[in-house]
Amino acid sequence: MENINEEEKQEDDSKINEKDKKENDFKKPEEEPSIDSIPGVGPKTAEKLKETGYGNMMAIATASAAEISAICEIGVPTANKVIAAARSMLNMGYETGLDVLEKRGDILKISTGSNSFDELLGGGFESSSIIECYGAFGSAKTQIAHQLAVNVQLPIEQGGANGACLYVDTEHTFRPERIIEMARAKEMDEKKILSNIYVGKAYNSDHQILLVEKAKDMIKEKNIKLIIVDSLMSHFRSDYIGRGSLANRQQKLNTHLHTLSKLADAFNLVVYITNQVMSKPDMLFGDPTQAVGGHVLHHAATFRIYLRKSKGDTRVAKLVDSPNLPDGEILYKITTNGVEDM
Ligand code: GTP
Ligand code: MG
Repeated sequence: MENINEEEKQEDDSKINEKDKKENDFKKPEEEPSIDSIPGVGPKTAEKLKETGYGNMMAIATASAAEISAICEIGVPTANKVIAAARSMLNMGYETGLDVLEKRGDILKISTGSNSFDELLGGGFESSSIIECYGAFGSAKTQIAHQLAVNVQLPIEQGGANGACLYVDTEHTFRPERIIEMARAKEMDEKKILSNIYVGKAYNSDHQILLVEKAKDMIKEKNIKLIIVDSLMSHFRSDYIGRGSLANRQQKLNTHLHTLSKLADAFNLVVYITNQVMSKPDMLFGDPTQAVGGHVLHHAATFRIYLRKSKGDTRVAKLVDSPNLPDGEILYKITTNGVEDM
């Protein structure tokens, strides 16, 4: 506009710059081709895909033909063609062990705040994996979730991933006050830290599933590097009661975990899930505590860690399953500052 005076204009510009700066606080990941460029995807189809959370190539490449067919109202064979095209544009398929090794160089490791805990995990909570912590109430599953939500925002050199966090809270135990304490301990800007944690309260298992499905849209935009589901099983356990519904529950759980695993892999991010335990009364030797969720969960988690309370603020973490690390046990503590070495 002509009559806008120079000062106002400058102020406007600086506002825009500030907004840009805020949005660009984190480095944006590499651009991938837009979905409009997939052969067979016209503007109308692209619109439908975007509306339903399939607005990026990876989402389409990893979708099933039935999903795409239903969303776009196209036949399954055409849907298959669209998926195949997206896959070839993303260059998916087999790769050599050397390629895999090279890619592992991109793996991020988020520090827990305790050196011994990090060492137990080969450097920290690893991206491109699902990491499960299970343990009784008060064993620090949620405390670790809070600490990771802070630490993911640290620069990579300081044990972070320079990214934001998506927090699916199923037990309504997310506490911003706790985040503030942990951020202050690290002399980080608490408001900025809180504004990079996107909390979704899940009211039942279907809602939980939906929140994770919707994550796809946010990951790139907000540079999410950590997805937390605290806790994974509580809604599933109360929504599906009785033996008759168990198969149904496990099927839903399987799909849910599959979605999480796809996100971890496609976007090189950490998925942290917490889990409850049950007592196995028929076990004669050893610790009778066992994670709930059955085989489905056992196979989906890349790393499984068993947490226990010890005297005072001392806590025990035991690595019980990992693809490449020896099992082991370490001590750490929870203080006002968060997770720390003994
Ligand atoms: P459930 O969700 O109930 O299964 O337990 P959880 O494993 O998630 O436990 P959570 O992480 O909530 O741990 C709670 C415990 O952490 C408390 O009992 C305290 O011992 C400890 N804790 C929480 N906040 C603080 C704090 O500010 N200082 C100290 N020293 N300890 C804390
Ligand atoms: Mg908890």
